[in-house]
Amino acid sequence: MNDYTTCHHRTVRLSAQCDEDLKLAREILVSGGIVALPTETVYGLAANGLNPRAIEKVFVAKARPADNPLILHVKDEAQARELFSSSNSHIFWRRFLKLQERFWPGPLTLVGARAEQVPNGVTGGFSSVAIRMQRNEATLKVQRGLGFPLVMPSANLSTRPSPTSADHVLKTLNGRIDAVVDDGACAIGIESTVLRIDLPTAQILRYGAIDLEQLQDCLGERVMLPRYSEDPMPSPGRKYLHYAPKVCSISVCELEDCRFYWLRTDTVVGRRCDLDELLRLFGNRPQGSNNISLMDDAKGFARGLYQALYKAEENPATGLCIVVPSSKEEDWHAVLDRISRTAGFRS
Ligand code: TXA
Ligand code: MG
Repeated sequence: MNDYTTCHHRTVRLSAQCDEDLKLAREILVSGGIVALPTETVYGLAANGLNPRAIEKVFVAKARPADNPLILHVKDEAQARELFSSSNSHIFWRRFLKLQERFWPGPLTLVGARAEQVPNGVTGGFSSVAIRMQRNEATLKVQRGLGFPLVMPSANLSTRPSPTSADHVLKTLNGRIDAVVDDGACAIGIESTVLRIDLPTAQILRYGAIDLEQLQDCLGERVMLPRYSEDPMPSPGRKYLHYAPKVCSISVCELEDCRFYWLRTDTVVGRRCDLDELLRLFGNRPQGSNNISLMDDAKGFARGLYQALYKAEENPATGLCIVVPSSKEEDWHAVLDRISRTAGFRS
């Protein structure tokens, strides 16, 4: 078998529809290599989650700070049980049972005390571990043939937008990883919700595809929202710059404050209904400027957001304006969170 542990020169593009390709992806992972795999949220950069050398390669390829822990991706509930510490409380296990039954496979990551076998490289030295079972069928096929869980951070260079297609993955990681399995665009397009369930009250650490109401409904108890400003360490990744496209300036505004940007910015991204309204209010934009319209609803908007950011940076000299809905409705939390961080806000 090839030695995939050496320096990479070429990243192989594999097809999610081809069983031979999935087998190759599995072989690369078994031999300690790193492969970008599709999930229903965003593409992830996979490696053997129990192999410290393979995990190290993920940090190097992504240029990710070593103290930002990774999510372990499991193929079933039983594998998750082995990775959480058996010392977790009764309440933890009760929540775990309910949540995994309702939301797995799916975009929910659960955090609790880790089992001893979880390598330090995964958790950044923390005593907790984050675990999820994703639901992309091709990736599940790869996972089912493996005897170990996978670490899978988003498959982008650190600080850049998360990838929702194989092309996005190659934009920042070509030549830095062994392969990418192409399964077209991700169904959800925004990352999983990260939920800590070993506290007296469960707490969202990162907004994502599953919202507060769904979680409270499933658990039958109150769930806390993130408190980014009060707790310096709720979700370690939050202290780093994220989701930044390579453009010369980024502004975020609501419809009413958009006149200047509408008339002066190269690229405007927003809901279709808002862009229509801006056109009506302020008239045509300068020639050569670029409008990227996204769906009016939060889920549709989320699906297209990272694609829009990568599209905006096709011209790096561009100024980018993102028009956000004034709605603070809960279903917009995840999208607004990512956009505020795109614009450089660090909580
Ligand atoms: O949808 C997703 O979650 C995607 C796909 C590929 O599964 N993965 C993803 O991974 O977004 P990543 O590494 O880009 O983001 C993981 C987040 C980071 O903010 C990290 O700090 C947090 O989860 N995290 C990981 N382990 C944690 C832990 N033990 N306690 C608290 N937060 C943790
Ligand atoms: Mg990420």
